[in-house]
Amino acid sequence: MRPSSSSIVGPLLISVILHATFHNLAAASPLFTDGRWIVDASGTRVKLACVNWPSHLELMLAEGLSKQPLASITWKIYTMGFNCVRLTYPTFLLTNESLASLTVRQSFEIAGLDAAIPLIALHNPTFVDLNLLHAYKAVVAKLGANNIMVILDNHISKPGWCCSNSDGNGFFGDTYFDPNVWYQGLIQMATMFKGAPNVVGMSLRNELRGPRQNVDDWFTYMQKGAEAVHGANQDVLVVLSGLSFDNDLGFLASRHVDVSFQRKLVFEVHWYAFSNGDAWVEGNPNKVCGSISGSVNTRAGFLLDRQLPLFVSEYGVDQRGGNLNDNRYLGCILAFLADKDVDWALWTLQGSYYLREGVVDKDEAYGMLTYDWAGVRNQTVLQKVRAVQQPFRGPGVSKTAPYIIIFHPSTGLCVTLGSLTLHTLDFGPCDGNMQAFHYTQQRTLTSIDSSLCVSATGAGDPVKFDSCSDSGSSWNLVSDSGMHVSTTLPGDGTTLCLDVGPNGVVTNPCKCLGDDANCDPESQWFKLVTSAKTIP
Ligand SMILES: *[C@@H]1O[C@H](CO)[C@@H](O)[C@H](O)[C@H]1NC(C)=O
Ligand SMILES: *[C@@H]1O[C@H](CO)[C@@H](O)[C@H](O)[C@H]1NC(C)=O
Repeated sequence: MRPSSSSIVGPLLISVILHATFHNLAAASPLFTDGRWIVDASGTRVKLACVNWPSHLELMLAEGLSKQPLASITWKIYTMGFNCVRLTYPTFLLTNESLASLTVRQSFEIAGLDAAIPLIALHNPTFVDLNLLHAYKAVVAKLGANNIMVILDNHISKPGWCCSNSDGNGFFGDTYFDPNVWYQGLIQMATMFKGAPNVVGMSLRNELRGPRQNVDDWFTYMQKGAEAVHGANQDVLVVLSGLSFDNDLGFLASRHVDVSFQRKLVFEVHWYAFSNGDAWVEGNPNKVCGSISGSVNTRAGFLLDRQLPLFVSEYGVDQRGGNLNDNRYLGCILAFLADKDVDWALWTLQGSYYLREGVVDKDEAYGMLTYDWAGVRNQTVLQKVRAVQQPFRGPGVSKTAPYIIIFHPSTGLCVTLGSLTLHTLDFGPCDGNMQAFHYTQQRTLTSIDSSLCVSATGAGDPVKFDSCSDSGSSWNLVSDSGMHVSTTLPGDGTTLCLDVGPNGVVTNPCKCLGDDANCDPESQWFKLVTSAKTIP
């Protein structure tokens, strides 16, 4: 890369920051792959629980620096439990000299956003006259100082909001997507961050798409791009996006990526509610969850079964709570993420944008942070996301024989032991004292420490640990979502499902098992997740 010499303070400052922070990172970098898992140098699994943070729009500066100090933003990322950021950038920031040489101030002046400059000066005074690349590096370094890993994400070529089929940035050969310029940008980025231990991966290109997209070119260019990055920086994981806005890696079922190096390739997939139009609103949520999860498996999830690592690098919801399509999807994808125990990156961190699609200071309803970047936008959403930040199994994480925990996506909580004397079950944090079960061939849910079975006692009544020969202790996963946990009481033959009661886990008549599109099943969605961590 070619940083401009326009800032004298910049390079000195950066080298101090790099030095101060790059040696005390928690995760042992560099990272590798081990089958479907990402592991550190000692072979222990590192689960990427990332949040996206854009730096690829017109201003080419990580969003939010006019709202809060960088240190406060990175600290919030850490306290929300994310261990990693997918930090985006545009190719032309590296390859177009007239852009690469701009300072932050100049970039804002050119965009006509002069009013934001004093705000950046207020919150992040050292940034105003930094060259844009140095500013990017300073963000990476500060994340490192908070033990936060970074995936450098080549999001687009020409700086701006992404992505559409016709924006000229979609596929190799498009107006702004010359493969040779792309290699050059990747190599510059890889070289620039060689030796930065918190930079654990580079994602080659976000959301390939558009009329030009085809599988042959995907293999040709992605393999060359992967070699280019690895040639320049052997430490980073190389992350490959699929076709159709990164919704589709299905073509890997019949053809393999062929590169000269090993244990570094990761595949990324995106999954939003709107990836399927209005399907979540129009259908019965169980059926939609079942069919779309199945289709995501066919397009991407199958890689895990083939021992290839999958990174769900964008998913997210409108956090204002008013988008029914998003609300219904969230429980389903959280169950998927917990069940597969995959690495992921939530869309998104930013509470607002300097400029997006012509709108100055635009709010981001999908952002974890509020519009002023000062707090968490929605604690309820955060609680749900936190449930899937931890690893459940994998090398160095699996310490016992596998057992089951029961995850309740709509609260983000897991089933715990309730009253010791009444033997009831309750809800608690998924990183706390979860109850461990075996789901047996007789379809009982047995406590692994007492050999007692979860038993239904009646509609509206608490479930209890009881003798396994008792009635109501055989449980089936019914409904297309696979998340209704149901039992039939002898006698009247009532079918009941696990549900949320005032004091913990109860059974109620199963709901929304038919085709009704207006029915909300979520209180009865319980996902049986395999874990092998040390039992708390
Ligand atoms: C570099 O960026 C400037 C400003 O956006 C643009 O006018 C110019 O055409 C670009 N040059 C190349 C070679 O893409
Ligand atoms: C947070 O999200 C939930 C849905 O997950 C919604 O019900 C609630 O209204 C949201 N709260 C705020 C403050 O937006």
